[in-house]
Amino acid sequence: MGQIVVLNAGGQYCHLIARRIRELGVHTTVADITRPAADLAAARGVIISGGPASVVEPTSPSVDPAIYELGIPILGICYGHQLMARDLRGRVEPGVTKEYGHSSLHASDGQLFRGIPTRSLRVWMSHGDTVVDIPSGFTIVGETDDCKVAAMEDRRRRLFGLQFHPEVVHTEHGSAILRNFVFEVCGCTADWDPRARLEQVLAGIRRTAGDRKVFFLISGGVDSTVAFHLCATALGADRVLGLYVDTGFMRESDADAMHYLERAVGRQAVRVADRSADFFAALAGVTNPERKRQVIGDVFVDVQEDEFARLGLREQEWLLGQGTIYPDTIESGGARHAARIKTHHNRAPRIQALIDQGRVIEPLVEFYKDEVRVLGEQLGLPHDVVWRHPFPGPGLAVRCVCSDVTAAVRAAAVPLPAGVTGFIVPVRTVGVQGDERSYSNLLAIEGAGGVEGAGTLARRVTNEHRTINRVVDVVSRRDGRPFDQFAIHPATLTRERVGLLRAADDLVTRIVRAHGLDDAIWQFPVGMLPLGTAPGREAIVLRPVTSRDGMTAEYARLPEPVVREIAAALATLGRVDAVLYDVTNKPPATIELE
Ligand code: XMP
Repeated sequence: MGQIVVLNAGGQYCHLIARRIRELGVHTTVADITRPAADLAAARGVIISGGPASVVEPTSPSVDPAIYELGIPILGICYGHQLMARDLRGRVEPGVTKEYGHSSLHASDGQLFRGIPTRSLRVWMSHGDTVVDIPSGFTIVGETDDCKVAAMEDRRRRLFGLQFHPEVVHTEHGSAILRNFVFEVCGCTADWDPRARLEQVLAGIRRTAGDRKVFFLISGGVDSTVAFHLCATALGADRVLGLYVDTGFMRESDADAMHYLERAVGRQAVRVADRSADFFAALAGVTNPERKRQVIGDVFVDVQEDEFARLGLREQEWLLGQGTIYPDTIESGGARHAARIKTHHNRAPRIQALIDQGRVIEPLVEFYKDEVRVLGEQLGLPHDVVWRHPFPGPGLAVRCVCSDVTAAVRAAAVPLPAGVTGFIVPVRTVGVQGDERSYSNLLAIEGAGGVEGAGTLARRVTNEHRTINRVVDVVSRRDGRPFDQFAIHPATLTRERVGLLRAADDLVTRIVRAHGLDDAIWQFPVGMLPLGTAPGREAIVLRPVTSRDGMTAEYARLPEPVVREIAAALATLGRVDAVLYDVTNKPPATIELE
């Protein structure tokens, strides 16, 4: 057990708390929220994580109440903050204020804020319930405009509660807040060295593999490239085989990383298979995003089985390698009490069955994207491969939104500032709000004064209207046609649609690179909605974001002339009726559209 134990209430960022504290050099472990107090007595501090449930519900996950009597410091974050308030006889109310994304915190001289500027601290929120009365013995040490009890402490008993998330990179001074808790309050000593991880991972691969070999489906993305390279380093090139599968949903340059692996690991260790016909056939008529993900996961397993047979590999001699990273597991609902935000392709049911049989190796399953990159650099992978924008396994399939129905856009019944018009686009995209999945319509706005003004408005609208999880600014409409002539039309994943999206993606990528903006943006999904003035016409969605680990993200601001250049270029593709700019943070929206 670590010096700090994080009790997991199923939050999206629970594991991230442990990671941040390990980065501070302190061994931290995650345990189920129901862990008995007696097991925690040797810890120097306990943290209760966020979670998707509501403490107001009688069946929601709870801690052993005896932990409050142990005399060790406890920090409650989000759900943990509310749970502490409830357990110690304060009061929590559902739905008083909802905040998703950033808020401005005014803190006072709380112990956790020592050495940190306390006026207008930018903090990241994701909650629907709120603490309205603090328990006796506590004082309020931080508030936001919408949340009066954003931080509380009982200094005598060393109990602390934060409504915001200090563990996400988008919270300013978040690590310093955790450092204050860990060192100043809990008195921990440094006992963890993050740089020793590469050796640990290589040793872990050798242990898991035993005398078996590893077969990988590689996508060209950084995770599978690093995972494959790690296995080749640990086991030797003659004990790995990587298959680059063309799913039909790849981008123009996705095969680049595979060519790198051919050179670095050896030609004999890497093969290519064009299986796009199988993927398109299986996805014919499928429109629901979770169904799409399941079908894709299934076809990946079929491909793996076929290729095993074709190459004459014996099952008992080979493990299936995957580049799964931690967010894939948590977002797939793979931790107890956690909500399923989406099923990542490497967590499809048939893959899960193989995992349960011990036939899968996933060297990166404890890591976040930025840590994978550090490992990639330690392995000596080139900058272009390591720093490539992340690309999801299901590829363009999760950026190409589908629909079963025809439905016209309608004027939005939400109050908007003078001069701004808003339309509800009746197609649903995926979001994450208060640690739960949402699947809601999006709001398209015009006249908000560019992406900055639109983003401010997006934040307000999504906080106040739970039924809207994404907001897009309308950059251009073909021939200036009024938005009320637009409708969503039935559409599925066809080669034609995906081909258009690939061409759009390629155009955008080239323009962004030409302006030297590639490194300033963490990921730039280009998405597509079946939205236009007639069936078969589309709207292209620009979704540049900044992030570090993909768990939270902020929409990126591209310079106005670059946006105009992109819109003009996209107009030349034909069939594009509008260009939209996604101005939503994560939360409330996810990075991908689905
Ligand atoms: P979301 O859309 O959940 O994305 O905000 C967070 C990050 O995860 C990537 N992503 C995936 N990566 N398989 C992957 O390998 C998947 O199924 C998958 N789904 C999302 C996404 O591109 C972003 O970087």
